[in-house]
Amino acid sequence: MACVDCHRVHQKQDPALDPFAQTAACTSCHQAQHAEFHRPFAHPVHDGQLQCSDCHNPHGGAGPSDLYSMTVNDSCYSCHAEKRGPFLWEHQPVREDCTLCHQPHGSVHRDLLTQRTPFLCQQCHMSQFHPSTALSGTGLPGIGTPSGSQSLLGRDCMNCHVQVHGSNHPAGVGQTR
Ligand code: HEC
Ligand code: HEC
Ligand code: HEC
Ligand code: HEC
Ligand code: HEC
Ligand code: HEC
Ligand code: HEC
Repeated sequence: MACVDCHRVHQKQDPALDPFAQTAACTSCHQAQHAEFHRPFAHPVHDGQLQCSDCHNPHGGAGPSDLYSMTVNDSCYSCHAEKRGPFLWEHQPVREDCTLCHQPHGSVHRDLLTQRTPFLCQQCHMSQFHPSTALSGTGLPGIGTPSGSQSLLGRDCMNCHVQVHGSNHPAGVGQTR
């Protein structure tokens, strides 16, 4: 690539350095990422609140996918510092890689999740202990059924496991507080 694929040298305002123009400068080539940021839940890049270069080093980065940070998690911590911990009770995948559960750009699921919960959780955890089958007698509320399963309704697993990123409560081993 040439410098002028992104920079404009004979213009007053260089699009690569302008927070509102940079996204268009990048997505003219990166069409797939353009679409990802238009998903219902996305990092607010199209509003100019964030830029590609908040995470990526356009000249080549130290981390995967040219991220400024050495790891994906370090990149996320730079803004979402409260997720860095350390926590008394860690949740292993959170320490390993945020993208095990989150899409970095945007997602069709709330909170940029890679999958809907509870299915997200059940990629790794068995469903037997916590019945979470929609079409069972105790799943979703039906006619004459007063209430459905707490593992399916509302915030499903997070109805109880509210501290899914890790807990500092002495009794928070199950991430319930
Ligand atoms: C993939 C797009 C892209 C290419 C190719 C590119 N740049 Fe950049 N450049 C950027 C972006 C985006 C920034 C702003 C970085 C930031 O805000 O962190 C930048 C920043 C700069 C800056 C700093 C400007 C300042 O005021 O801080 C210089 C100098 C620069 N680029 C020169 C070059 C040169 C020389 C080349 C070719 C060898 C080049 N760039 C190639 C996207 C690019
Ligand atoms: C002229 C087209 C073009 C423009 C403009 C452009 N890119 Fe790229 N970008 C590429 C190409 C080609 C690659 C290499 C893709 C590959 O190796 O599969 C690439 C690679 C990347 C990668 C690394 C992907 C990986 O898997 O490691 C990132 C991140 C990236 N670009 C971000 C940006 C950002 C941020 C901007 C705007 C500042 C930008 N690009 C502008 C063409 C472009
Ligand atoms: C909030 C941080 C963040 C922002 C903002 C961001 N990215 Fe990314 N991007 C990432 C992460 C994290 C990855 C995945 C790294 C990995 O898992 O290897 C990634 C991956 C990529 C890749 C590699 C292919 C892919 O999709 O996995 C490209 C290309 C890319 N980003 C382009 C862009 C462009 C263009 C923009 C701006 C329109 C942008 N990114 C904005 C964090 C970000
Ligand atoms: C440059 C700062 C920045 C970086 C880096 C960053 N984020 Fe964000 N993130 C934001 C902003 C700003 C929002 C939008 C917050 C809002 O709308 O209130 C956001 C929103 C989110 C949300 C949705 C939260 C909500 O309230 O809807 C999730 C999930 C998220 N980010 C995860 C990540 C992950 C995972 C990474 C690493 C790949 C990351 N973020 C990197 C700034 C950042
Ligand atoms: C095991 C899956 C999983 C991993 C790994 C994970 N998250 Fe989350 N994250 C979630 C879920 C589920 C929610 C929605 C929480 C809710 O509904 O209470 C969420 C919500 C969020 C939110 C928005 C709400 C809030 O709590 O602020 C942010 C920001 C966020 N995650 C950032 C991160 C970062 C940064 C990482 C990596 C350090 C990460 N997440 C790793 C599952 C995960
Ligand atoms: C990528 C795989 C993965 C995903 C996705 C995942 N987890 Fe985990 N989870 C783990 C691992 C690994 C452990 C540690 C197990 C151990 O220490 O025996 C763990 C531990 C836990 C624990 C603590 C168990 C204990 O008593 O030590 C709870 C509670 C938990 N996860 C809930 C969730 C919830 C809720 C979700 C969905 C938001 C989720 N997990 C998504 C891999 C995952
Ligand atoms: C009604 C509340 C509630 C809901 C909803 C719930 N859990 Fe739990 N879960 C608990 C309690 C209580 C424990 C025991 C925690 C402790 O020891 O502190 C537990 C323990 C766990 C453990 C550890 C199991 C072990 O063997 O130690 C995992 C993993 C887990 N839950 C995953 C999930 C997943 C995945 C979902 C969603 C399908 C979910 N939970 C929904 C209350 C709930």
